[in-house]
Parts: sequence; structure tokens; C-alpha cells
Amino acid sequence: IAPAARISNAWDTKVGGTLADALSCNAVVKSFGAEAREDGRLMRVVSRWRRRVNRTWLRYNTTAAVQLGVLLCLRSAVIGGAVLLWMAGKASPGDVTYVLTSYYVIHAYLRDVGMHINNLQRAVNDMDELVAIHGEPIGIVDAADAKPIAVTGGHIVFDAVTFHYGGHRTALYDRLSVDIRPGERIGLVGRSGSGKTTFVKLVQRLYDVSGGRILIDGQDIAHAKQDSLRSQIAIVQQEPILFHRSLAENIAYGRPGVSRAEIEQAARLANAHEFIMRLPKGYGTLVGERGVKLSGGERQRVALARAFLPDARVLILDEATSSLDSESEALIQEAMERLMKGRTAIVIAHRLATVRSLDRILVFDRGRIVEQGNHATLVGKPGGLYRSLFERQATEFGQLSAAG
Ligand SMILES: Nc1ncnc2c1ncn2[C@@H]1O[C@H](COP(=O)(O)OP(=O)(O)OP(=O)(O)O)[C@@H](O)[C@H]1O
Ligand SMILES: [Mg+2]
Repeated sequence: IAPAARISNAWDTKVGGTLADALSCNAVVKSFGAEAREDGRLMRVVSRWRRRVNRTWLRYNTTAAVQLGVLLCLRSAVIGGAVLLWMAGKASPGDVTYVLTSYYVIHAYLRDVGMHINNLQRAVNDMDELVAIHGEPIGIVDAADAKPIAVTGGHIVFDAVTFHYGGHRTALYDRLSVDIRPGERIGLVGRSGSGKTTFVKLVQRLYDVSGGRILIDGQDIAHAKQDSLRSQIAIVQQEPILFHRSLAENIAYGRPGVSRAEIEQAARLANAHEFIMRLPKGYGTLVGERGVKLSGGERQRVALARAFLPDARVLILDEATSSLDSESEALIQEAMERLMKGRTAIVIAHRLATVRSLDRILVFDRGRIVEQGNHATLVGKPGGLYRSLFERQATEFGQLSAAG
């Protein structure tokens, strides 16, 4: 049974996976009119699953039938033997009665044992995948001597950091060194895929580096407790994801137990209060899985409000205003200025207007920092990458305003 059950359980999981994939990408399926294709795909998986499950079911039942057959043979042999002995005059009716009654008692036990073995087998097979998941090594493990990290100033140092994603052949960062002073406001710019988001993921230690060290306030984050590190960094992710809970709960996620007034204050700073008050249930509105019931810009503003609450020394904004209209962006820019005071801030942006007022801008290109300095210095650098990005954006804007 075990080999068949293992395969059919794996197909059980595949059916779940196919369903989850198709349902969570439901908007894409509809937009491309691909319902029939998805149906077909699911049908193929389900029909293979059905064949496998059928086979396992047959094996269970065959085993049960064989067990029963063996028991029946045993029963006939015992009863037949007793009767034969009685006919030959070698056993009294009392002996026969004794044999029959004891046999029936034993028979019931034997049947139970067979059933239990079947159930045990089934349970072990069902547990197989669970045990396999449990045995899977954890990607990032706290060191045995890990201590909570104390982020007091927000001094971030990348010391010759080498990192590459599993599966990639070349390293994304090769001995990257950066020193971000406490309270400094840093902008990260560069082409798509140049390694900006990865930089902040490493600061949060979502991945371990393969060479070098990352220090925050002199403490190597590889020896710090992960939860203590991450709880002291406020972040707005590039793709904000919300819980299917109320807006108030979502905003308060970084600092559970805050008062309603503080939640509203954060929402005001993120320019989210007005749109929230227009919703029928206000702060009690449920936002749907991952926040699907909000528009892109609304979701982003809720994510901003969420990052405004924790009292963290390090603030990371990854494309935090990319889905906002220019009016909201200007309002939030103001709030961010206030928020960044006394904090170390890392701001990633494609729109260079977002980073031009920051203390220092790091220009990434294929995992290397090719230029750094403030806006004025970088723009003044003939042939520089930042200058060319800036000129492109400026001319596009110029052409637009000229056309307008
Ligand atoms: N989880 C991952 N596994 C494997 N490769 C990844 C992973 N995340 C990112 N990469 C790769 O690493 C490189 C850098 O990605 P990263 O997300 O840091 O880019 P980025 O500069 O933030 O780009 P964008 O401006 O588009 O957000 C890309 O080539 C990307 O394909
Ligand atoms: Mg990114």
C-alpha cells in the first residue's frame, strides 16, 4: 500500500496547488479569457489524481479482502477440525462448544488487529509529507549564541558583502562595501534588477550573505535574533501585502495595542485617513486577501501608515510612493521628511524627484554601486548613469509640458 499511497498523496497536494494557483491568479485568468485553458489544466491534474487515488483505494480493499479471506479459512479449519474430531468421537460436545466460543473471541480480536494495521498504515502515509516538511532545513537560522540586537543609532555597514541567490550562477554582490551613518538619508536608484530591493532584504536578513558582514551599530546581524532585528526596522515593501483583516488591524500591525487615535494619526500622515473615512465601515473595513479590495495607491498608503507607527531607528521605503498620484505623493513626501528626522532612512525610487533631496544617493548597476553623492554632484558628472537617468526623466517631462 505504502508506495501507492505516497504517490496519491503527492497528487492530492498537486490538486491543491493547481487550484490555489488558478484561484489566486483569477484576475489574470479572466483578463486573458483563459477559463477554458485553466479548466483543462485542472481536469488533467484531477484525472491523474483520480487514477492514483483509485489505485490506492483498490490496494487498501484488496488487503482488507485478503485479510478477511485468511480469517475465513482459519475459521473453517478450526470449526471443521472440531466437528471432525467430534464425529470421530475424539471430542465431546463440550469440547466443541469450548473451541467455538474461544475461537469467536479470538476471531474478533484478529479482525480488529487487521483493521488497526490498515489504519496505522494510512495514518503513516498521510503523515509522510508533514514529516518531510518538518525535516526541510530552515533557510535562516538564529545562531546558538544569538542575542537580541539593540538598534540605537542606525549605523549600517556593509563590509565586503558577497551574496548570490540560490540557483544563480554569478554573485549579485561581489564584495560590496557601504557605510550608512546614523541618521543619514540614503536614496537607492538604478535600473530594474540592479539589486536595490535585495540590498534592503539583506539589511533585514531575509537572506544570509555568503561573504563579508553586515553590521548595524557595530553588531553583526548574522549573530542577532532575527525577530529583534526586523522589529526594529520599519519598512514599506515594493509590493505591499495586507491581511484580510480590518484596516485598523492592518495599520497597527507593526505596533500591536496602539490606541485608535495613534492609528488615525498614522493614517493622516500617510494621506490615507480621508479615503478610509469614505469607506462604509471606515477603519473596520475588511480589505480582502492580500488587500485586493483596495486600489493600488490605497494599498500603498495603508502600508505607509503601517510603517509610520513602529518607533524604529531604521526606515526603509521601497518604491513606497510609486502608485500614488503626484498630489498625494507631494503630501506624503512632507510627512516622510518629518518621519525621517533622527532616523536612518533608505529610500528606493525610480522617480528621481523622490530622492533628490536626500543626503546621499547610491546608484546601483548590476549589483555594484557605480556612483554616489548628492543630487547636485551626481547630475554634474558628465557621462554618469545618474545624470543620464535624470536627463531622460527631465526631457520626458519637458516634452510633456511642451506638448501640454
Ligand atoms: N528571490 C529571488 N530568487 C532569485 N533571484 C532573485 C530573487 N529576487 C530577486 N532576484 C534577482 O536578483 C536581481 C536583483 O533583484 P532586485 O529585486 O534586488 O532588483 P531591483 O533593483 O529591486 O529591481 P526593481 O527596480 O525592478 O525593483 C534580479 O536579477 C532578480 O531577478
Ligand atoms: Mg525592487
